[in-house]
Amino acid sequence: MKITNKDYYEQNVEKLLAKMSLTEKIGQLNQLETPKLDNLEEFKNKVREGKVGSILMSVGATAGNTEQGTIDVDFYNELQRIAVEESPCGIPMIFGRDVIHGHRTVFPIPLAMAASFNPELIEKAYSFIAKEASNESVHWTFTPMIDLCHDPRWGRIIEGPGEDPYVGAKFAEAVVKGVQGDDVSRKDKLLACAKHYVGYGASEGGRDYHRTEISDYSLFNNYLPAFRSAIKAGVKTVMSAFNDINGQPITSSKYYLTDILRNHLGFEGFVVSDYDAVCQLARQGVAESEADCCKMALNAGLDMDMHDSCYMDNLIKLVEDGIVDIGAVDDAIRHILRIKFQKGLFDNPYCQHTTIERSEHLKTAYEMACESMVLLKNDNQTLPIEKSQKIAVLGPFVHERRSLLGSWTIDGKAEETQTFFEELSSAVTGELRTSPFGEFGWNTTASTIEWADVIVLALGEEWSNTGESRCVSDITISAAQKELIKKAKASGKKVIGVFFCGRPIAMQGIAEDLDAVLYAWHCGSKTAAAACDILFGDIVPSGKLPVTIPRLATHIPLYYNVTSSGRPVNSYYGEHTGACYIDSVAAPYYPFGYGLSYTEFEYSKPSLSSKQISITDLKNGQKVKISVNVRNVGNYDAKETVQLYIHDPVATMMRPLRELKAFKKVFIPSGQSKTVEFEIGFEDLGYYLSNGKYIVEKGVIEILVGSDCLTNNEMLFNIL
Ligand code: GLC
Repeated sequence: MKITNKDYYEQNVEKLLAKMSLTEKIGQLNQLETPKLDNLEEFKNKVREGKVGSILMSVGATAGNTEQGTIDVDFYNELQRIAVEESPCGIPMIFGRDVIHGHRTVFPIPLAMAASFNPELIEKAYSFIAKEASNESVHWTFTPMIDLCHDPRWGRIIEGPGEDPYVGAKFAEAVVKGVQGDDVSRKDKLLACAKHYVGYGASEGGRDYHRTEISDYSLFNNYLPAFRSAIKAGVKTVMSAFNDINGQPITSSKYYLTDILRNHLGFEGFVVSDYDAVCQLARQGVAESEADCCKMALNAGLDMDMHDSCYMDNLIKLVEDGIVDIGAVDDAIRHILRIKFQKGLFDNPYCQHTTIERSEHLKTAYEMACESMVLLKNDNQTLPIEKSQKIAVLGPFVHERRSLLGSWTIDGKAEETQTFFEELSSAVTGELRTSPFGEFGWNTTASTIEWADVIVLALGEEWSNTGESRCVSDITISAAQKELIKKAKASGKKVIGVFFCGRPIAMQGIAEDLDAVLYAWHCGSKTAAAACDILFGDIVPSGKLPVTIPRLATHIPLYYNVTSSGRPVNSYYGEHTGACYIDSVAAPYYPFGYGLSYTEFEYSKPSLSSKQISITDLKNGQKVKISVNVRNVGNYDAKETVQLYIHDPVATMMRPLRELKAFKKVFIPSGQSKTVEFEIGFEDLGYYLSNGKYIVEKGVIEILVGSDCLTNNEMLFNIL
């Protein structure tokens, strides 16, 4: 009989399980932070006793905002040696780290990478990220973060793929494939972790860790698709989220952690809690004691306890007193041991550190940054500018290094990051001047503006203004930056705003005073080079918004895949916007999927392979082919992200006015055209009912193909 990998793992897991003591079993469920010198010996003794199954290679509850030293590979190899050689069963530990969007080479923040609409490039980026991190003891990264988010006040919006389920699903798939590859046991691959399961991005008011209210209808159709995609791509671990949904903490919810995650979505890996989340059940008011927290989380299906030792401190007694069934403990261990075997830890527990040549990684980081930046405004073709001009570059981000890397950059080095000024200086052939930012520099600023032919403003937000526990009540730039814009505008010269931001910022009162707006995000090691090359036209911008940019923060939440209303008042699509607010226009400033180029594209009407199809044929795998001809009618060779949306105007449940169902980023030389083809089928044309049942219904479907969600380039299609 052929022994399959699955059999191999099962046999080895059961053999190990049979000889483990209860202490060692619970030790496998215990993840502790990297020990500091003052508790190192105590830590080593815990490892010797088999009480540490995993190390969280970071310090502090908000790792993404904590400066940390470089990884000492020998230090981790020594801790691993103790586990392998001195603990009772010699089970290797698994080392996890927040390698969110880069290691030593830093790529754009995930929200920016989503703006590239280039899953192939994202996958390539994460293959390099895995290569660098695995070379420094990391086995497991807590990535992809795939929290759908409608609220840019939430600092963690920068860590995820934005507001759309389909973009989230494509991002999740690309990251998991890039990080894990085809064989996760390879030494240059990592275990991925889909997080935060589930609904964390709906934190009320954009306030981190706050309650969420998510109907099952919205859960199945909006918040689960990215996790479904990650699981389909083979993600080996999932991290449970801090939040509750409708009063039920995820950490202790069998409904979410077992019924949905394992039984509905088919997840087979292991679930790790978020930091201290098990003990936090007491604060959430569903448990009286730590023992209760422990019992509830384990019985819900939470396998590994991150940092608070709640399992290690309570489970032995709970099992001995018969309150927790040893079977639940064994199931959790099986989930973890299977993955440790699949990662190859038993065969290769130690890191063989080598020197990695990073030129290809840096080149890809540059490409990623170029494809992620979004040109939002370009009146009268202000951009690109000539290198020979007298250019003034002003603002708080002229000489900035660290913020360009973004939050959740633990191993990147700010000192290695070129500034915008340095990149501009090496590119211009004319003259470049700057002056100090803020009230101390106003005099020289005025003279610099007077001197210049064109003014470039380096604007944005600090990296530490984003990420975990970094929520804001207003999504804007500082008053001093707004004043600078006004002063530049008053000169009557062309003014370009380059926004080095993490989150979307409300653009009303800002963009109007600029002739051009380039959203450069926090794009990692090569942010400045990419922004500079786009300004001079060496690179043609091709990014598209994965998240809506509102006029005002008070319009939040504002997102494109909104359902209709009984009255024609939907502001997103420009209907009777006055009926939404009597004091402001609530339509987006820049909509989902929007992004300009230096050229223009013209779309033909979509053509369909057939105007109708039966549900039976769809169920049997028949697809609808849609094609559209896109012509580049401008003077630049360029890339365009062709987007395919549907709208189901009549269904059992109200459906969004637009749902993105496919996109293709294509290169079209100036003056040429390309026929772009899509295929959509059963899995694209339906939706989930509140009970999790997926249905496709008969009736008309509008199919729209264009360059952003506001397209009305549509054809009607009939499901029979
Ligand atoms: C943090 C974050 C989570 C991260 C974990 C380990 O609190 O919520 O995303 O992976 O703890 O640092």
